[in-house]
Amino acid sequence: MSNWIDVAAIDDFKSGTCRVVKTDEASVAVFNINGRYYAIDNLCSHEEAELSTGKLERDEVICPLHGAHFSLVTGEALTAPAYENLRTYPVRINNGWLEVDTELQWDIA
Ligand code: FES
Repeated sequence: MSNWIDVAAIDDFKSGTCRVVKTDEASVAVFNINGRYYAIDNLCSHEEAELSTGKLERDEVICPLHGAHFSLVTGEALTAPAYENLRTYPVRINNGWLEVDTELQWDIA
């Protein structure tokens, strides 16, 4: 099952920025990095920090609270103090809008 949700009009979603999509089940941070779009759980797996306010470095987001790095591609926790991976979500462009599917999650082992 899928649940495609509008994130932003592509023309209004600037590179280097983030939008947050919230549903009853998920809070998803969606990043635009040079026209590549990534969707990942918004809450850090270490504590309750929101990654949407973190810094970007290549294809990684850095937690604003204690500095853990997460891969935006796979959701993998790359550095301490976070050890649990995050879920990532499919994105697509549809009629000029970026959409995220909050039902279909990709977990890595
Ligand atoms: S809350 Fe993210 S690294 Fe601690």
